[in-house]
Amino acid sequence: MRIFIAGATGAVGRPLVSQLVARGHDVVAISRSEERAAAVRALGAEAVVGDVFDRERVIDAVQRAAPVAVINQLTDLPASMDMRRLGDTYVRNNRVRREGTRNLLEGARRAGARRFIVQSMASWYRPDDGPEGDPIKSEEAPLWTDAPEPIGEAVRTVADMESVVLQDASIGVVLRYGAFYGPGTWYAPDGDIARRIRSRSFPIIGSGAGIMSFVHVNDAASAAVAALGAASAAIYNVVDDEPARASEWVPFYAEVLGAPPPRRVPAWLARLAIGRALTAWLTSMRGASNRKIAAELGWRPAFPAWRDGFGAMV
Ligand SMILES: NC(=O)c1ccc[n+]([C@@H]2O[C@H](COP(=O)([O-])OP(=O)(O)OC[C@H]3O[C@@H](n4cnc5c(N)ncnc54)[C@H](OP(=O)(O)O)[C@@H]3O)[C@@H](O)[C@H]2O)c1
Repeated sequence: MRIFIAGATGAVGRPLVSQLVARGHDVVAISRSEERAAAVRALGAEAVVGDVFDRERVIDAVQRAAPVAVINQLTDLPASMDMRRLGDTYVRNNRVRREGTRNLLEGARRAGARRFIVQSMASWYRPDDGPEGDPIKSEEAPLWTDAPEPIGEAVRTVADMESVVLQDASIGVVLRYGAFYGPGTWYAPDGDIARRIRSRSFPIIGSGAGIMSFVHVNDAASAAVAALGAASAAIYNVVDDEPARASEWVPFYAEVLGAPPPRRVPAWLARLAIGRALTAWLTSMRGASNRKIAAELGWRPAFPAWRDGFGAMV
């Protein structure tokens, strides 16, 4: 199958290109840099240089590639998050999701691509428990579009991106990913979160009841491969089997890294240090369920448990 990928040089994009090439697909990638385009070519794909904000260039690149499927793994997040300036961080990412996605969609439409697969987020469900009091969210649960700012705007951006893909693509598939770990991510041993955990500046806030769902980047990539077989438009959570409370995963990861145990701070102190939005999110976030993608696409993660994945990563 001929496949056009945006975001091919990122943490998920790299394993995705390798997995697609290994399965015999023809892959065409777009990157803003000739150097990163060359790295994609070394993996066995074609690559063009271009910026997804350059609408005409992107549409032309997709049309020339004439793909059957387009995969959008775009993000624009810094290697190190400034937790006090979350709003600044999300400006670029929000733009790439709104504008980049629309430009790619138009290219896909003109090229007659049958499928459009897009990266979204599984950690932005509204944090209240559902009718059954279940903190683990299925795809039907509402997104937290009225979260404190600037998270609210980032969630609304994702909701908008998802709805244009579901409406405008021939078959639109939304992959709501858990927190990425593995090479090139914030959670990698050389990444931002690991650095903060080593320096004891990633504390457990309150009782550590915020629940995070993780996914290894190789599993994130294999879910995008599985999504190429989706028969109809759908939203899927792409997470491992074991949603994790902060009170479990932070001390575990500290131990794996050989770091001292994390500090604990009350929520009021966290609000002063990192603001209301991030504190609310970290303390109330809910995990997600992968039941739907397992049942409908047969996807299973190679690392069903983050504990095993973290251990293997380090
Ligand atoms: N669910 C999650 O937990 C989640 C989600 C997203 C990101 N993150 C974190 O964010 C960090 C970075 O993640 P990542 O690997 O996805 O990001 P990345 O390494 O910055 O990759 C982003 C991809 O998007 C492409 N891109 C961005 N803006 C573009 C533009 N204007 N035009 C064309 N291509 C563009 C980049 O291509 P070029 O640079 O080659 O042009 C690159 O391939 C990681 O630490 C990751 O853990 C986490």
